[in-house]
Amino acid sequence: MDELTFRQADRADVPKMAGLFTKRPPKERVARMTRRFGREPDGWYVAELKGEIVGCCQAVFPRPKDCWLQWMRIGPNTQGSGVGGAFADYLDRQVLAKGAEVVRLNTLPGNVRVHAMMGGVRGYTEWARWTRWNRLAQKPALGLARLRQVAHADDAEDVLAWLEGQVGYQASFAAVTCPDDFRKTVSLDRSLLQELIRGKKRGGCVLAGADGDMEAAALYAVQGQELRILQLVAATTAGGLAAAAGAIREAKPVERVSIQLAGASTELMRAIQRSFAGPHLKKHEFYVFGKRL
Ligand SMILES: CC(C)(COP(=O)(O)OP(=O)(O)OC[C@H]1O[C@@H](n2cnc3c(N)ncnc32)[C@H](O)[C@@H]1OP(=O)(O)O)[C@@H](O)C(=O)NCCC(=O)NCCS
Repeated sequence: MDELTFRQADRADVPKMAGLFTKRPPKERVARMTRRFGREPDGWYVAELKGEIVGCCQAVFPRPKDCWLQWMRIGPNTQGSGVGGAFADYLDRQVLAKGAEVVRLNTLPGNVRVHAMMGGVRGYTEWARWTRWNRLAQKPALGLARLRQVAHADDAEDVLAWLEGQVGYQASFAAVTCPDDFRKTVSLDRSLLQELIRGKKRGGCVLAGADGDMEAAALYAVQGQELRILQLVAATTAGGLAAAAGAIREAKPVERVSIQLAGASTELMRAIQRSFAGPHLKKHEFYVFGKRL
C-alpha cells in the first residue's frame, strides 16, 4: 500500500475526521470534535490513502508516560484492508517518541477487529473487563450502608496497605477508573487516592468493614450531575455492597449515580445489579487493552 501515509492532524482536518464516523457528518459531531480539538490540539493523527483522510486517532497523555488512544477510526470503506494495523504501528512509534511507557485503549467486548488488531504481534493484552452501570436507584443505599461499618478514608497509605494484601490486586492495579475523565484513570495508585481523599472536588474513598477489619473500598468522585464510583474493591460481597452504598448516599437527589467495576467477582456484580435495580438502570461493558512500551 504505497499510497498510505500518516501525519499529525490539524484543525482543518476535523470535518474529514468527523466524516469517518458517519456517512454524512452531522453538524453536532463536527462541532463536538472541533471543540475537543480546540481544547486539546495535541496528539491527533490521520491516515491518508492517496491523499484522502481514511483514519484518525487521538493519543492523549493524561499523566506523563501514560498514553490513551481514543477516537480511533478507519473509514467504513477502508476497514479490513490493513490500514488500521499499520496506523496502530505508526501511533506506537509516535507515542514512544513522546515518552509513553504505557499505552491503552478501551473497546466493546465484541469488537473482534480491535482484539485482532491490538492483540497478537502488537502485544496489547486485555487489562480489565470493565462493567459500568449507570442511573442506579439510590434508595437502597441507606439500608445497604448498614450492612457494615462505613467510613470515609483519610489516609491513602492505609487503603493501599490493605489493597496490597488482596487477591487479584495486580489485576486491579492494571485496571481503570476515572476521576473526571476515563483517561485519567490508572488504578488505585497513591496519587489518585490522595487526589480523591484530600482533593477540593467532591469525592473520596469509602471504606467498609467490621470490628476494625477492612473489607472493601469504594473510590468515588462527583462531576457535573453525576456521582461515579470509579472503582470498587471488595473482599466480601456484603462489604462491597456497603462501601458502594456509603458512596452512593453522598449523592444529592438531583445527581445520577453510576458504578464502575473492573474485575469484580460475579457474586458482587449480581448483588449490585439486584440491589440497585431501577427502571432506568443501564449496563455497559468494555475491555481495556494495554501494553507497556
Ligand atoms: C478497528 C479498526 C480501527 C481496525 O482498522 P482496520 O483497518 O479495519 O483493520 P485492519 O484491516 O488493519 O485489520 C486489523 C487486524 O484485524 C484483523 N481483522 C480484520 N478484520 C477482521 C475480522 N472481521 N475479524 C477478525 N479479524 C479481523 C486483521 O487480520 C488484522 O490483523 P493484522 O494486523 O495482524 O494483519 C477499524 O475497523 C475501525 O475503525 N472500526 C470501527 C471503529 C472502532 O471499532 N474503533 C476502535 C475503537 S477502540
